[in-house]
Amino acid sequence: MAHKRSRAENSTAEDEQRVRLRRHVQALGLVGLDDERLDDHLKWALSKKASYTALLERVLGHVAGLRRERRVERRIKQSGLVARKTLEAFEWNFQPKLDRKVIEELASLGFIERAEDLLFTGKSGTGKSHILQAIALRACSAGFRVEYRRCVDLLDYLYAGLADDTYERRLRRLGRLDLLIIDDVGLGQLKRRDDEPTAAHMLFNLIDLRHEDASSATAITSNIKLSAWGKYLGDATIAAAILDRLAASAIRVNIDGPSYRQHLARERERKRLKRKAQPGAKKGASGS
Ligand SMILES: Nc1ncnc2c1ncn2[C@@H]1O[C@H](COP(=O)(O)OP(=O)(O)OP(=O)(O)O)[C@@H](O)[C@H]1O
Ligand SMILES: [Mg+2]
Repeated sequence: MAHKRSRAENSTAEDEQRVRLRRHVQALGLVGLDDERLDDHLKWALSKKASYTALLERVLGHVAGLRRERRVERRIKQSGLVARKTLEAFEWNFQPKLDRKVIEELASLGFIERAEDLLFTGKSGTGKSHILQAIALRACSAGFRVEYRRCVDLLDYLYAGLADDTYERRLRRLGRLDLLIIDDVGLGQLKRRDDEPTAAHMLFNLIDLRHEDASSATAITSNIKLSAWGKYLGDATIAAAILDRLAASAIRVNIDGPSYRQHLARERERKRLKRKAQPGAKKGASGS
C-alpha cells in the first residue's frame, strides 16, 4: 500500500513537472519540442541510461538544429531562389568540357569570402543558371546574405524604385548583399523607357557600387556575347565600363557544350515515339 502511494505521489510530482516544463518550452519559444517529442527524448534517455549531460545535449541540439533549418529556409525564401538546383543533380558527363573541379571549388564559397565576382558565359541550356542557383543555395545554407534575380527582373526592381522614390534605398540594399546573382543577361526583352536612365546605366550603378565594396561578390550569367551587351543594355560605352569592372577581377567560366534543354526535349520525343510504336498504344495520345 505504502509502495502504491509513493508511486502515485511520484506520478503527480512528475505531472506537475511536465506542466511546468511545457510552460518553460512555450515561454522560451523552443520550436519542435512538443509533448510527444519531449517524451521521445525522455524515453531515449531511459533506454540508453543516458547521463543528464547527454540528455540535455540531445534536447538542445535538436532545438538548435531546427532553428538553424528554419533560418536557412527563411534565407532561401528571401533570396528569390525558386528552383532548388543542386550540384548533386548536375550531370557532369553531359558537359565534358566543363572543369568540374573549378565549379566545385566555387561551390566551396571561398570566392564570396574573397569578394570575387563570377562571369559565366555559354550558349543557352548549358547549365549556367543551374550551377549558379546551386551555388546560391549553398551560400544560403552557409549563412550568407544572397539574392538571386534574372537581369530583366532586377532592372524592373530598380526602375520601380525610380517611380516611388526608393531607388537609392533599393540600390543600397542590393549593395549590402554578400552574393548577388544577376542571371540571364541577354535573355528577355528589356522595356524601352523614355526619360529614364538606360538599363546599362542602372546596371552600371549597381555593379560599380558592389565593385567598390571589398566585401561583396557578384555573379553574372550571360548567353549572349559580351560584345553584344551594349546593344542589349542600350548603351555600348556604359556596357563596356561594366565589363571592364568585371574583367578586372571576375572569375570567368565559359561553358562550351550542348544544350541540356534540347537533350531533354529529344529524350521526351524519343519516349513519346517509343510509346506510340508500342502495340496497344492509345490512338491520338499526345505523350506530353
Ligand atoms: N549538366 C546538366 N545536368 C543536369 N541538368 C542540367 C544540366 N545542364 C542543364 N541542366 C538543366 O537544364 C535546364 C536548362 O539549364 P540552365 O537553365 O542552367 O541553362 P542556361 O545555361 O542558364 O541557359 P540560358 O542561357 O538559356 O539561360 C535546367 O532545368 C537545368 O537544371
Ligand atoms: Mg540561364
